[in-house]
Amino acid sequence: MANLSPFFTLLIAICCSLLGLPALAAADDGESVLHSEVSRAHNQSLFWGPYKPNLYFGVRPRVPQGLWTGLMWGKVNDFDTLRSSFRYTCEQHEGLAGYGWDEYDVRRGGIETIHDVANQVDITVSFVKVPGGAHGGSWAARIKGVPRPDAPADLQTMLTYYIAQEGGGELEIKTDGTDSGFEGDITFAGRSGTLGDYKLVVSKGIGNHPTSDHDLAARRQPGKTTIRSVQMPDEVLWQAKGVVFNQLSEGITNVANTYTTEDGPPAFLVYQLENNPGKGNLHIVQKIFEGPFEFDVLFSSSSAGKELTEADVTAQIKSNSDAFSDKFSKIFELQAPFKDDKYKSFAKNMFSNLVGGIGYFNGHQLVDRSYAPEYEEYNEGFWEETAEARARRQEKLEGPYELFTSVPSRPFFPRGFLWDEGFHLIPILEWDNDLALEIVKSWFNTMDDDGWIAREQILGAEPRSKVPEAFQVQYPHYANPPTLFLIIENFMNNLRKMNGTLPERRETLAFPESPLESAHLDFPELGEAYLRSIYPLLRLHYDWFRKTQRGDIKSYDREAFSTKEAYRWRGRSEAHCLTSGLDDYPRPQPPHPAELHVDLMSWVGFMTKSLLNIADALGMTEEVEEYKKIKNAIERNLNDLHWSEEEGCFCDATVDDFEEHTLVCHKGYISLFPFLVGLMKPDDPKLGKILDLIGDEKHLFSKHGLRSLSAQDELYGTAENYWRSPVWININYLAIVQLHDVAVQEGPFKAKATDLYRRLRKNVVDTIYKSWVDTGFAWEQYNPETGQGQRTQHFTGWTSLVVQIMAMDDVPAVGHVRDEL
Ligand SMILES: *[C@@H]1O[C@H](CO)[C@@H](O)[C@H](O)[C@H]1NC(C)=O
Ligand SMILES: *[C@@H]1O[C@H](CO)[C@@H](O)[C@H](O)[C@H]1NC(C)=O
Repeated sequence: MANLSPFFTLLIAICCSLLGLPALAAADDGESVLHSEVSRAHNQSLFWGPYKPNLYFGVRPRVPQGLWTGLMWGKVNDFDTLRSSFRYTCEQHEGLAGYGWDEYDVRRGGIETIHDVANQVDITVSFVKVPGGAHGGSWAARIKGVPRPDAPADLQTMLTYYIAQEGGGELEIKTDGTDSGFEGDITFAGRSGTLGDYKLVVSKGIGNHPTSDHDLAARRQPGKTTIRSVQMPDEVLWQAKGVVFNQLSEGITNVANTYTTEDGPPAFLVYQLENNPGKGNLHIVQKIFEGPFEFDVLFSSSSAGKELTEADVTAQIKSNSDAFSDKFSKIFELQAPFKDDKYKSFAKNMFSNLVGGIGYFNGHQLVDRSYAPEYEEYNEGFWEETAEARARRQEKLEGPYELFTSVPSRPFFPRGFLWDEGFHLIPILEWDNDLALEIVKSWFNTMDDDGWIAREQILGAEPRSKVPEAFQVQYPHYANPPTLFLIIENFMNNLRKMNGTLPERRETLAFPESPLESAHLDFPELGEAYLRSIYPLLRLHYDWFRKTQRGDIKSYDREAFSTKEAYRWRGRSEAHCLTSGLDDYPRPQPPHPAELHVDLMSWVGFMTKSLLNIADALGMTEEVEEYKKIKNAIERNLNDLHWSEEEGCFCDATVDDFEEHTLVCHKGYISLFPFLVGLMKPDDPKLGKILDLIGDEKHLFSKHGLRSLSAQDELYGTAENYWRSPVWININYLAIVQLHDVAVQEGPFKAKATDLYRRLRKNVVDTIYKSWVDTGFAWEQYNPETGQGQRTQHFTGWTSLVVQIMAMDDVPAVGHVRDEL
């Protein structure tokens, strides 16, 4: 490697000093040294995190088995609250007045707040990461509680910190206590293969403790921290709430056997764990406070050298918060009309929850790989046959798989979703390029040898416990929108800017203060190496799509430019086409083997375009020619097979009673698909009609964003009404991006696109913002009439695209401006 980037030595120096390693001199095989150094540095920097996003707060490392910890709490002024409101896993119906990350950066940590109405307490968790050493570094959590304004003066809160060591290793208590508990800080010492030697301290903390003159208070001393240590099989450990209740029940039984209702002790004493520290792979640390409280959990890796102190944590919380604000203002510089400060804290919150939702999952997945001829879906009535074939149930647990991913919603969908992930990564790529690339790679590592990726990743018993049985099994003949290509496409664009191919070349490191986050951009040789390594996987996935989801042109005498390019989602039923991601969006009825789906052909066209870009960048001449041909064939066939001149939009196709090609048009998101994925040229006359449809208030345009289905459609708002009227942010985002593209180029539709861009962008942001102010949450979808957030609460997945939308340019209006909507 002759021409090392001048930044090479700099990067190595910074990475290594970051990790306390001696700087490496630039070697002859510079590129591979750079590559392995950077991936090692990433592994270290991304090692710890709140990677159990299903919990209000749960920390784990990014390795299959290791030490993990989680927080639980509840009010103990009375007996009942704890039974109904003991917090651990995020849940939708716990009546919280909002919770989530106000600031969060995967490399440094962040701050989460939880407004707990039933327990009358607001909890703040500040999480900090301190890199260093060879075992992923150290971390700490500061857990702070403040009674809510309506709380009694003597609010009593019980907290348990759950410390579990999976997969062997040692973990023991080093502090001496008394029979009833511990007075001061408690130190655990542990060792395992992946973590090396470490210390974990739960500090005494600050706060008052309840007192009682009941004689039980002499034996159970609520001023002390108590610990129960137990040995449990790994497969039970994750059921932490049940485990803690079991431990509590022993003490409760003792009380019940000793006292009557008249002379019974107060609730906080009954719920105090009987101290029983010792050996075990699980340690439950319990504290009971009265009024406000604060304590720290400090994890120090021995190889990092220095042990973390409370003062370190205080300093780090402050510097992280400053660094986050600085970086946020640079990356997501909000543009008019969203420059007001109120939008900034909203944007920070939305983005932080998206990144704070990143989890690491590891475990077995249920897959049914049995072959059934019915799965070819050749016959009329195929959906009944495939249902029967699936009912034979030959699923097996496969794996273990591992996945590093963000999640659509921490309480409701705390696992990986292929359809969502590409959208999640759009803002993440801008924030931390290399993090997004790492997640894309993790997803492609779950792909099988045929090129299939399971659309829902339910890895292990813990995620599985959240999924109804009917949805647990994955089928290797079913697809899902290939949204990860959106990230490859954006990464390519950013790379081009860095590479000088596009004019906006950066002269300096993107983020000199944290070079690791953009190493694959700052060093184009790394970026290219990434493309070279991911390209064969993308291609395999693409070939799988084209082979397994092909539509039939020839059997029905269809007239089209290409006899090949047509596609049909497998796996639909009368009511649903779940594989398309647009579940109940109306499709031709009844389902027919001759059907062709315009959204799917658009996705294949989009993949082709991305692959063409990569092949071009990597100098793969033959492939470039191949992709150009396919892309042209798809663009022509979109016109020949899916465009309705009469309706002025794209439509799904099927055949009529005479087996003749016919279009079935339900105007809505599907009608826009070729436009949404960037397959229409700015001077295409069809584009004018698509823009008319987008802007028509009788059809798609509303004060709250684009409706999924036209208000004129006979099925508008009917049945489940999931994708039959509500406003979805992922599709609105695609539309906004494409409108912007048309608006900034010269062309016949520039003025129209600019007007739509400006109004749609504002309507979508205002709708999400207002709902967030009203409810404290982001939502899965928005009501097109009222703008209210609906369905899943705390949907901080693709709804977080609002951040990206606010940071897009405020394109100046052309000519007359409309402002009534
Ligand atoms: C990442 O780091 C951990 C902890 O140091 C180590 O156990 C693991 O093998 C590393 N993984 C990779 C892929 O390098
Ligand atoms: C970067 O630039 C070089 C030289 O202009 C070119 O050969 C290469 O394909 C470019 N890489 C990308 C990813 O655009």
